[in-house]
Amino acid sequence: MQLYGKVAVITGAASGIGRATCIAMMDLGIEAIAAVDRSSQIIEQCNTLNHEVGRSVLVPYVGDVTSDEFRRSVFADLRHRFGVVHICVPAAGITRDRLAVKHHKDNGGGVDIYPRSDFEDVMQINLIAPIYWALETIATVAEDRTRRGMPKWEPSEGTQGGVVFIGSVSSMGNKGQISYATAKAGLAGAQATLAKEAIFYGIRCNIIHPGYTDTPMVRALGEDLIRQVILPQTQLRRLLRPEEVADAICFLLRNSAVSGSLWVDAGWHPAA
Ligand SMILES: NC(=O)c1ccc[n+]([C@@H]2O[C@H](COP(=O)([O-])OP(=O)(O)OC[C@H]3O[C@@H](n4cnc5c(N)ncnc54)[C@H](O)[C@@H]3O)[C@@H](O)[C@H]2O)c1
Repeated sequence: MQLYGKVAVITGAASGIGRATCIAMMDLGIEAIAAVDRSSQIIEQCNTLNHEVGRSVLVPYVGDVTSDEFRRSVFADLRHRFGVVHICVPAAGITRDRLAVKHHKDNGGGVDIYPRSDFEDVMQINLIAPIYWALETIATVAEDRTRRGMPKWEPSEGTQGGVVFIGSVSSMGNKGQISYATAKAGLAGAQATLAKEAIFYGIRCNIIHPGYTDTPMVRALGEDLIRQVILPQTQLRRLLRPEEVADAICFLLRNSAVSGSLWVDAGWHPAA
């Protein structure tokens, strides 16, 4: 599928992998991208990138991806401006890392379990929100096709659109990431189901599992942990670059023969 003439929505677009994906899609000539983030920096960023390419590709939307009201308002605006949204890369994500059951050496040696509020936040942002942004995207294509009296897609039309969920190597299980790993593994179930359903409208659905990538999310882990724990377990012995992950996302969208999951992990595997 060529990206020319397509409209995409990318969440978490102000930073890291989301931002790099916006730039990669602009380079491939995409028509428009709804660049969604809760950080208002997205506005300035869109202005700068649009100026660099000399056309208004990026349309910024500031808000929380977990809000149904915000999501519906973004899609209402996109329907008004473009009619159909063909592509969704829901990249907004957070970590709330901690051991699931933690033994405290100090304070008399108590034990406590992972806070439920953190677990729920991670599920809302990393699992439920990406699925609903993807469903909303698929719905715009389905509505358009129904309106034109041709809901069922035929291969002769060419692929209509695509969803790429952002999983993680942590979906295989990773110490200290009970909520994050659960959310990312959950996305694989959503991808596998939507891949079977959305092709009815000509939309492919894939998932990418990046390894540790050089973004603010990973830098927040601290240089010591990156150097001592993460890098020795990667074959490249460096963090991935956001542009490498973005390139792989675009590959998943463009090559319709590829289905399922793509591991972009630089040979990283979770320790025992
Ligand atoms: N960096 C990695 O090593 C890595 C590895 C595997 C998967 N991922 C996944 O890739 C995606 C992007 O991660 P990143 O490393 O680029 O992170 P990042 O922290 O650089 O960027 C995340 C962006 O999401 C936005 N965001 C977070 N919560 C939001 C919310 N509720 N509403 C709107 N925006 C919100 C933030 O403002 C930020 O701009 C995430 O889903 C992450 O889990 C990252």
